[in-house]
Amino acid sequence: MLAMDVGQNPVILLRSTDGSLGGVICVADTGYHYTGLAKEQMSHVMERFAARGWSAENVECAIVGGADSAKWKIAKLLNITRTQGLSAKQIDINGLFYRKIYFDPADGAADIYREVANPDHWNPAKANLSLEDSSRAFSEGQAGGVVANATRFFRDKNIFAALGDLVIPAHLEKTPRETLHIWSSACSNGAETYSLAMFIHRRLEELGSRTNFMVFGTDINPHLVDAAKSGIYQLIRSDLTKWRPYFERYGQLDGGNIVFGDEIRRHVSFRVFDLKNRPRKYRFRMIVCANVFQYYSNEARRFFLENFTAVSQKPGYIFVGHASDETINGLDLHRLSDYKMLLLK
Ligand SMILES: C[S@@+](CC[C@H](N)C(=O)[O-])C[C@H]1O[C@@H](n2cnc3c(N)ncnc32)[C@H](O)[C@@H]1O
Repeated sequence: MLAMDVGQNPVILLRSTDGSLGGVICVADTGYHYTGLAKEQMSHVMERFAARGWSAENVECAIVGGADSAKWKIAKLLNITRTQGLSAKQIDINGLFYRKIYFDPADGAADIYREVANPDHWNPAKANLSLEDSSRAFSEGQAGGVVANATRFFRDKNIFAALGDLVIPAHLEKTPRETLHIWSSACSNGAETYSLAMFIHRRLEELGSRTNFMVFGTDINPHLVDAAKSGIYQLIRSDLTKWRPYFERYGQLDGGNIVFGDEIRRHVSFRVFDLKNRPRKYRFRMIVCANVFQYYSNEARRFFLENFTAVSQKPGYIFVGHASDETINGLDLHRLSDYKMLLLK
């Protein structure tokens, strides 16, 4: 029996006609990676079926769930199933619903529990959350609120370019004897935090530097923080291909899984933290708050930025993705446009 909290995402359920093998595909990404990720997962799952002697003609397929806001995803998934030679039934799609799905491939039963989503939150990118909304929206798991936990290894190139070109050099020049502190402030399952740690470790090694560093990963959602603490990730194939040298250097690869080793784990630490609280005084050289601002009101964004500047070292580098002039006015932050970074001088 598979139990999934799929939020507003459509999922593909697959089973061999005798019920001996089942598969589920659910991609939470809302960005341009969506189709690529879904295709990749689909071909991976179909390979598993093929390895056990099942071809598309004797695999049953259904697309379940998917809110009105995710119609475009349903269309993509339908195409992907067709390309694989599958014909998918569509069940309980559309509407303003969050769903939990229990799927038993043995008898093909899919029990769907759904609750009406808050219309203000149904499109997370337009949620415009206040500080008070944040706990409800993000911490209660996907069914309770906005479905927005998507993350990936080395997701935003700007962050790593800035680390290599600006942040590490500035730290080594100003305070080489001090530990370089980085805050990955809404780290989801920690892929971002490990990416930062692997990148910094390798770069310091290349530079022959003995400077110590720590990357602190925090998130409002305790389930994600627990996942991050485990240090074990199931890798999607494109990440494995792109970042293999990092994974081989800093962990044990086991099939499609990576288990991070002590050499990198001692440079990361994780805890639950809601950005609506004031952080404890700490001197961070860099703070990353990626793919979060779009969900919040301008007032909340300014509050986050005020806190970030209060706990930054100078020069301090703050990454929040796009920040409008309205958000940063009066905060004494300078734009480093080439890196989409904010600088506290
Ligand atoms: C879309 S994910 C981005 C993860 C990662 N930063 C990245 O870019 O890959 C957004 C994350 O922000 C977290 N989050 C949202 N509001 C938060 C808050 N008030 N405090 C801490 N984390 C929050 C969510 O739980 C989620 O894991």
